[in-house]
Order: sequence, then structure tokens, then C-alpha cells
Amino acid sequence: MGECRALSRAEALQLAPPDWQHACHALLYAPCPGRLFGKFPLRFAALMQMRFDGRLGFPGGFVDPQDVSLEEGLNRELHEELGPGAASLHVTEDHYLSSHVPEGPRRVVTHFYAKPLSLEALRTLEDGATQAKEHGLEVMGLIRVPLYTLRDGVGGLPAFLSNTFIGNSREQLIHALDTLQLVPREQLQKAVTMTQKRP
Ligand code: GTP
Ligand code: MN
Ligand code: MN
Ligand code: MN
Ligand code: MN
Ligand code: MN
Repeated sequence: MGECRALSRAEALQLAPPDWQHACHALLYAPCPGRLFGKFPLRFAALMQMRFDGRLGFPGGFVDPQDVSLEEGLNRELHEELGPGAASLHVTEDHYLSSHVPEGPRRVVTHFYAKPLSLEALRTLEDGATQAKEHGLEVMGLIRVPLYTLRDGVGGLPAFLSNTFIGNSREQLIHALDTLQLVPREQLQKAVTMTQKRP
């Protein structure tokens, strides 16, 4: 997937319900010192989830009519999908990154946010995630994205990127890793090239 078009937040907000649905998802991440096997730098702990449909995606979801803003909808979804630990998260407009619409007939605008946390706060969130209302339902589990590449050039981030992702979440991940400088650009480009499906 990934046939979609970027648009500004202002343009996106013109696309009003009930014709259009809006959905918000967030990347939560924290600096993470240390090396795997004493060798590969972990860099950051960056969270995604295994969804009920077997695809990878970010926590978040549809903004419902009773949500007064995009961010209120996002924080409600984070609470449902990540548990009580998400109550102290407060993702705001300051964490907004991008909006996209699919090229096809589907009328869903997806908004994407990224919020840095301390490693301690992120670990608390992970510890409480199995208490979430949607644990075992919409969310099969929280995962960390491997941000290193092993010596074979495939293991780690390249292999991770060859999983199946919901919507344009793979593109959201790659873009965030680049703009937030969570992975050195050269290494990220190599990982993306490695996993590009060849005809
Ligand atoms: P329900 O309460 O069951 O409706 O689920 P939800 O509100 O949690 O919605 P969900 O997270 O599945 O996301 C809503 C829409 O956004 C779906 O149509 C997905 O196709 C799409 N989507 C889901 N996760 C992501 C994501 O991480 N990134 C992007 N871009 N889209 C996503
Ligand atoms: Mn072991
Ligand atoms: Mn949900
Ligand atoms: Mn969701
Ligand atoms: Mn929902
Ligand atoms: Mn739901």
C-alpha cells in the first residue's frame, strides 16, 4: 500500500465529516542507550503495535463525533489501546507531523504525531500495556522497532520493514525515523532499498 497524498493540516481540516473520517496515530519514542550483543547501537525505543488484523501499525484510531478535537480523539484512542499509563501522555498539536489522504475512493484522512518520552516513562507505558481495554482485542501487543542493521545487512530494521503494515504506516515510520533523526540517513536509505520489492 502507500498510494496516498500529503496535505497540510488546514487542508485536511476542510475535509469534514460525515463525508470524511479522520484518524490519528502516534509514534512514541525514547532515547535508548546500550548495544545489542555489545555491538549494535539500540539508539531509541520506538513503539508500534501488532494489530488485530495481523498488520503492524501505530497506536491510535478514528476520531469519533464526540471527540472535540483531533488530539482529544487521539488521546482517547491511546488510552484504550495502551492502558491507564497513557493518561499522562497528553499528545498535543505540538507533536503533529503530517496528514494524508488515500488516492483511492476511501474517504479517510490520517493524521500522524510523534512524541518523545523518557525511557523510564516509555517503560512504564510498556509495563501497563496489557491492562489496556483493547489488549488482546484491537491490539495483540506492543513492540519496539529494531533501529539497527545486523552484519548480514538484512536483520534488524530492513527485515522489520518487510513486514505487512496497515495503511501508510510504513511510510509514516520511515519519514519519522528520518526527520526525527532516529536512524542515520545513510543506514535508513540502505534499509529501505534492501526491502524494496523487486519486479
Ligand atoms: P475501531 O475503534 O475498531 O474503529 O479502531 P480504531 O478506531 O482504533 O481505528 P484504527 O486504529 O484501525 O485506524 C483507523 C483507520 O486508520 C483504519 O482505516 C486504518 O486503515 C488506518 N490506520 C490504522 N493504523 C494506522 C497507522 O498506524 N497509520 C495510518 N496511516 N493509518 C492507520
Ligand atoms: Mn538469547
Ligand atoms: Mn482503537
Ligand atoms: Mn487503533
Ligand atoms: Mn476507535
Ligand atoms: Mn475501538
